[in-house]
Amino acid sequence: MAKKTVRDIDVVGKRVLVRVDFNVPLKDGVVRDDTRIRAALPTIIYLRSQGAKTILTSHLGRPKKQPKEGLVMDPVAARLSELLDVPVKKLDELTGAAVESVVQQMKPGDVVLLENSRFDPREEKNDPSLAAELAGLADVYVDDAFGTAHRAHATTAGVAEHLPAVAGFLVEKELEALDTLVTSPGRPFVVVLGGAKVTDKIGVIEKFLDVADDILVGGAMAFTFFKAQGWSVGTSLVEEDEGVAVAKRILDKAASSYCNLLLPEDVVVAEKAEADAETKVVKADAIPDGWMGLDIGPATAATYAGTIMGADEVFWNGPMGMFEVDAFAAGTKAVAEAMAQCKGMTIVGGGDSVAAVNGFGLADKMAHVSTGGGASLEFIENDGVLPGVTVLQDK
Ligand code: 3PG
Repeated sequence: MAKKTVRDIDVVGKRVLVRVDFNVPLKDGVVRDDTRIRAALPTIIYLRSQGAKTILTSHLGRPKKQPKEGLVMDPVAARLSELLDVPVKKLDELTGAAVESVVQQMKPGDVVLLENSRFDPREEKNDPSLAAELAGLADVYVDDAFGTAHRAHATTAGVAEHLPAVAGFLVEKELEALDTLVTSPGRPFVVVLGGAKVTDKIGVIEKFLDVADDILVGGAMAFTFFKAQGWSVGTSLVEEDEGVAVAKRILDKAASSYCNLLLPEDVVVAEKAEADAETKVVKADAIPDGWMGLDIGPATAATYAGTIMGADEVFWNGPMGMFEVDAFAAGTKAVAEAMAQCKGMTIVGGGDSVAAVNGFGLADKMAHVSTGGGASLEFIENDGVLPGVTVLQDK
């Protein structure tokens, strides 16, 4: 690892500002999935063991640059406190006199959590005044927010200009696990891409066409590729206009690439996207009028599973279908199971695909489950360069 980590810097008794990614799903005011909070524990526990005063900062959701009741950090502080088994004081501001006063009174080992960083309109603009105020709270800055490392915001980038800035253990682990994807992936190198929008993934698909052996496409994105080939897609979700144009461009590039771009050969269709809907399997180029594709079909799932199991390195981002509904989960499950059986390096990134492997109870069968969806895609697209990492001190 080329960047300094929290091990490489003296934090004993210091005030340490740690950017974490506690952007977690909530339900009825309670954290529904605490994976990202657990992932930050090693750094927080280490800092406490060194007698540091740990000041945590994170965003939660997309509150449109102003406070939003349902996105305050209180449920996150409560869950963190349970996991650490120590009180975690949640502050009602991000910076300012009240925050400074609490920080001044912190004792070695104390942990506080600042209010949602995106309530401050200066955060996403990476406003230097906010970065300076945040830096004034601490002696050292630690970035442990891999999931947000692709955002150049005040808490992820600006603040690092004012303080000694190093990586936390989660960022270190993620960078090490993802490194081979951009340096020397095992061969065959297979990429599985799903999800709704081809336009969100264009950069990464073009990148993978240059470096991967096979790209397996699933999810609603596949229907945009079908449309680009002039096939009927019924009422399937399609990204019209720009999406279709992008899909055509990718198909053209794939035709002259060494990489195989595989599209589904069959799909599971229904008249509505509901659990009780009648379903049938049809050929990919024959989706009937009034029917929508909601999963890859069994022939595609078998082809994809075989390709995955023969790989030496697999990267998966995006589900193959509407896996939250059992009737449309088989394709995503087949991919997850094949990854679990694959003997090569298996990496899953992206909220939905991670939720799927967790739901199927297969997360511990993966070599690495990334806490960053967008961040892992940008890491690959930009050859390992992320704004939140660039700002950290080199070893
Ligand atoms: C994520 O969930 O991908 C990160 O927390 C970043 O969130 P954002 O896409 O709202 O910037």
